Amino acid sequence: MNNSKTKIFGVLGHPIEHSLSPVMHKAFFKEKKIDADYFAFDVDDKNLGNAIHGADALKFFGLNVTIPHKISVMKYINEISEEANLINAVNTIKFDYIKNLIIGYNTDGIGAIKAIEKNLNEGLKGKKIFICGAGGAARAIIFSALLNNAEISIYNRTSEKADLIRKEVKEKLNKQIKITKNFDLKERLKDSDIIINATSVGMFPNVDKSAINEDDIPKGKIVMDIVYNPIETKFLKFAKKRNCKVIDGVDMLVEQGAEALKIWLDIEADENLIGIMRRAVIEKLKNKLKN
Ligand code: ATR
Repeated sequence: MNNSKTKIFGVLGHPIEHSLSPVMHKAFFKEKKIDADYFAFDVDDKNLGNAIHGADALKFFGLNVTIPHKISVMKYINEISEEANLINAVNTIKFDYIKNLIIGYNTDGIGAIKAIEKNLNEGLKGKKIFICGAGGAARAIIFSALLNNAEISIYNRTSEKADLIRKEVKEKLNKQIKITKNFDLKERLKDSDIIINATSVGMFPNVDKSAINEDDIPKGKIVMDIVYNPIETKFLKFAKKRNCKVIDGVDMLVEQGAEALKIWLDIEADENLIGIMRRAVIEKLKNKLKN
């Protein structure tokens, strides 16, 4: 039963009804026996500021922010982490009632990094990452990976967008990243340690599409997809056939959730908890597919 001591969390987005965050976080609270609850709130743009300040007034413990508010929410926040500033998007908010501050973080990139590192069994320093995409998800992974001293190559349908990120990285971090074009795609893929699809290609209902053709995926790499519906995308099916180690979109989703929980509660989710959160998400995804 909730009472005045129950820690209240939530996610703000629009649309939000299909959010997997409530089941994922509630599974964590249940396992850790934390008196907390987590709700999904459908908030439109004109009410975003009111929603943030309302949550502050109601002493919410923390919030996640999702599409389409990750950028616009920044204007309602007092302090923004280095990573969120670089990515230029916030997906996690902590309310500090002692200092009277609303603090914004971005756990999307670090969630992806954590998922990769667990498969690598080492840090990302010096690892070559090939990323398809130049949208919000790609940006988060690119900047977090650069902060972890990885080397980046971007491949995007609209190459101008990849160029803009390259320029921004040079300006903000004084680092170089490579842009891959069709003519050097195979070469760059071969030269990478980790290959990531950070586009929406392959997402339901377009499940027969893959960001990269099977023949172009080199053998024995680490391959990750940000798409989690379906859990095993065409791209990951191809990667498995090429004997690659695969990381699915649910892994990344759970890791970014675990990073948010660390920020809010200062509790590190061990592998058992990560597994519990993952199973809660998968169960919800499967029920969704049935309906
Ligand atoms: P998100 O925030 O989820 O990253 P986004 O900012 O809209 O979403 O970015 C979507 C990414 O998927 C972009 O890199 C987009 O490529 P463009 O920059 O060329 O638009 C990529 N994408 C989406 N649909 C695609 C398709 N059918 N083929 C190739 N790339 C696609």
